[in-house]
Amino acid sequence: MTINPSGWRPATPSDVHGEAPPTTTGNRALMLEEPLLFEIGSRDQTGVDFDRSVDGADAGLGGLLRTSLDLPGLSEPQAVRHYTRLSRQNYAIDLGLFPLGSCTMKHNPRLNEKVARMAGFADIHPLQPQETVQGALELIDTLAHWLITLTGMNAVAMSPKAGAHGELCGILAIRAALEARGDARSVVLVPESAHGTNPASAAFAGYKVEGIPATAAGRVDLGALKARLGPDVAAVMITNPNTCGLFEPEMKAISDAVHAAGGLVYCDGANFNAIVGRVRPGDLGIDAMHINLHKTFSTPHGGGGPGSGPVVLSEALTPFAPLPYVVKSSEGGYQLVEEETALAEGSDSFGRMVAFHGQMGMFTRALAYMLSHGADGLRQVAEDAVLNANYVLRSLEDVLDAPFASSGPCMHEAIFSDRGFADGFSTIDVAKGLIDEGFHPMTMYFPLVVHGAMLIEPTETESKASLDQFIVALRSIAGRARAGDEALKAAPIFAPRRRLDETLAARKPVLAWKTPAPDGADNGEVVEVGGG
Ligand SMILES: Cc1ncc(COP(=O)(O)O)c(C=O)c1O
Repeated sequence: MTINPSGWRPATPSDVHGEAPPTTTGNRALMLEEPLLFEIGSRDQTGVDFDRSVDGADAGLGGLLRTSLDLPGLSEPQAVRHYTRLSRQNYAIDLGLFPLGSCTMKHNPRLNEKVARMAGFADIHPLQPQETVQGALELIDTLAHWLITLTGMNAVAMSPKAGAHGELCGILAIRAALEARGDARSVVLVPESAHGTNPASAAFAGYKVEGIPATAAGRVDLGALKARLGPDVAAVMITNPNTCGLFEPEMKAISDAVHAAGGLVYCDGANFNAIVGRVRPGDLGIDAMHINLHKTFSTPHGGGGPGSGPVVLSEALTPFAPLPYVVKSSEGGYQLVEEETALAEGSDSFGRMVAFHGQMGMFTRALAYMLSHGADGLRQVAEDAVLNANYVLRSLEDVLDAPFASSGPCMHEAIFSDRGFADGFSTIDVAKGLIDEGFHPMTMYFPLVVHGAMLIEPTETESKASLDQFIVALRSIAGRARAGDEALKAAPIFAPRRRLDETLAARKPVLAWKTPAPDGADNGEVVEVGGG
């Protein structure tokens, strides 16, 4: 990996006062180049100023022994500018449409942000006495009721901190239920179109994972599934709507078959945003399902603390829910159940997923989203998400191969393949072309069941005008890929970086910096931290 590909280095006295032509800044118009912190900082400066002496003696903090780590120091403006410049080289939902399929990059309403920052929600500590956080506990309980009502399930575990963490939680609850009836089983079945976290979660919980094929229409092959069921199958994990952006219409039949064979049904509900208010997973025989609050209920992706992946549970799995959980006491107050006591009567919890409920920021944002939409509004969220995806699908199917378009409308995401591109052109060229047009690329090469997959999820928060802009850009790029326009292979040409070797960067990262020599010559010391 090249360090400092822009060629940036600090200006030297001879640059400023010498006769040689000035060095390039690497900047392009107002898009500013930015080197590593180690390249701009220096060891003899700091942004923090401790008082060293009073009456000749060290006083206050300045007198305490501090050992230098020998890191380069930065002034405050340098530090602020460094991160602001880097952030401008990134793409964000606040800049434009973010078509990543399977990720649901939707607008994060500012009202939710305001609510999340309210004193008493934003600044509480997990070890605070429970009587001082009654409002926060009530908020968690209210959110739990919304989730239970919207999904038609019996209970919800609020503590998992992400979708994949929720999958692990659901599988551990399933294992606990099977073990409680003395029927430990060893296999979890996962369709081949599943999100990669599904088999990983099942394997992490100690199960052997076996695949189930998809039909030509992109759905789970029910016949193959039924044929594999048996006394060793603990559970199936089905994503619905699935990762091809399609609803699994035989979900109830799948659940019935699995239950008849003594197994349990895990549903990956990450794509619940396509069906919220329209379908209740509890009516489909599901035993456990996680919901990604960031995907369905508009909480931000990362930033400001952990995420949240609550897991709704059927009656059969409710006793095994993880600790801690909130209960409403008979006196009307709220209590966080931290351990198996009389308070948790009937509970046979499998244990804890987390030390604390740390996702208050996600809970407040999600509940604000629910309350501001109401039940009818949430149904419209799903309808608009599906409408927008179908608009994208139908507007592009004449220039991009849409493998499942003939079997009917899609759900919240539209999927295309690279079929029909000129020789030597692939999905990556379309993705890079989109960057030059000012769009973040769609999800590429996933799911694996579609060749050169392009998975596009516009979400409900995009207007028709913004969808049209995106469609125009993609139609033009698809046309270039079909025609074999060699110039597309050079894209992106307007981005801060051209095509990088992404495989090498991922597989053999070299985390290194080069200390510029005092005279600005390229002979500084190279410090490598890792790589190969
Ligand atoms: C279908 C599906 N399952 C599981 C996950 C994992 O969720 P997380 O990234 O929150 O762990 C995702 C992520 O978007 C997903 O799309």
